[in-house]
Amino acid sequence: MEFHGLLSYTFFLLFPFAIAGEAVSVNEHHTYVGFRPTKLFVFGDSYADTGNNPKSLASSWKTPYGVTFPGKPAGRYSDGRVLTDYLARFMGIKSPLPYKFRNYGPGKLRGGLNFAYGGTGVFDTGNLQPNMTTQIGFLQGLIKDKVYTKRDLESSLALVTVSGNDYGTYTSAGGSDQGLPSFISQVVNQMAKDLKLIHDTGVRRVLVTTLQPVGCLPRETVLSSYQQCNESRNSAATFHNQLLHQAVTTLNNNTKDSSFLILDIFSAFNTVLNTKRDTTGNSKFDTPLKPCCVATRSGANCGSLDENGKELYTVCNEPGSMFFWDTVHPTQAGWRAVYLTLRSSLNRIYN
Ligand SMILES: *[C@@H]1O[C@H](CO)[C@@H](O)[C@H](O)[C@H]1NC(C)=O
Ligand SMILES: *[C@@H]1O[C@H](CO)[C@@H](O)[C@H](O)[C@H]1NC(C)=O
Ligand SMILES: *[C@@H]1O[C@H](CO)[C@@H](O)[C@H](O)[C@H]1NC(C)=O
Repeated sequence: MEFHGLLSYTFFLLFPFAIAGEAVSVNEHHTYVGFRPTKLFVFGDSYADTGNNPKSLASSWKTPYGVTFPGKPAGRYSDGRVLTDYLARFMGIKSPLPYKFRNYGPGKLRGGLNFAYGGTGVFDTGNLQPNMTTQIGFLQGLIKDKVYTKRDLESSLALVTVSGNDYGTYTSAGGSDQGLPSFISQVVNQMAKDLKLIHDTGVRRVLVTTLQPVGCLPRETVLSSYQQCNESRNSAATFHNQLLHQAVTTLNNNTKDSSFLILDIFSAFNTVLNTKRDTTGNSKFDTPLKPCCVATRSGANCGSLDENGKELYTVCNEPGSMFFWDTVHPTQAGWRAVYLTLRSSLNRIYN
């Protein structure tokens, strides 16, 4: 079985911390009022995974993934860096090592760990990869083994992404449109339990992403030759996000220092997708709903080969000018634009 879709890395081992090409400036945009996280723990799916999925199963380990960074397939579902890498950069730390490589030595774990697996959800999504509760169990196990101390956790931030794999599973299992609102509420209720579990480990602050405008993913927009988002799918994302805001408000109501924060990638995607070219030149996506890597045959995906090893996809000339990489994942340029849109709101993690 192969993992495609919203699935979801390793060269950090081979190229330790080459956040190459762009300057990493640590203390430029914020003043630290008290909380200064030095560790990042990541839970979720392909929007955050930096290499946990097995090479033999994941399309993220196939050419042309990783073509921009690090220059070859390295397990990220993009041509280069993803959300986790940009958040780590914002914090002034190295992108946390994928959990899979935790035995590379204690020194490597200082910046936290990435427990995200592409293709997963809060519930099982049928690919045998660890759901979110199981991912949290991995951290709990390391705490029990004293790999991380109470003090370590107090200086930690968690990133949680839930990008829609639960909904993909619901739909493929024949779930109805009428049943969707009730299923959305089950997903968000489980998210709230998982967010609380993460906070209960002692992690000081938990950042959770909103669901992106799923109706604007190329797998939907292909039906209009990449011209139009599916508004009915976007409404479902809006409903998910409303419930998530309520859940986070309730969670904060029950903790003393607003431990839970929302990272609104829904708005950030919309801002970037609607700004073809802004005055600051931050966005330069002329065909924002069209992916860079496109399968040339139905049933094929970005990275697929035929029985003779011939490519069943085409890749655009300039991934840096496209927002989407494949049918569901942004390019590095896409993630960078989203990150730049979110940067000022990220300062809230220090309050
Ligand atoms: C997550 O996976 C574990 C192990 O397979 C399973 O026992 C548990 O029920 C799952 N949790 C959810 C919320 O689906
Ligand atoms: C939009 O998505 C809905 C499912 O929510 C589907 O029934 C509908 O056909 C899609 N519309 C278009 C124009 O693709
Ligand atoms: C927050 O807590 C207060 C007092 O405990 C309660 O009255 C209020 O309904 C709570 N709000 C939410 C959104 O949970």
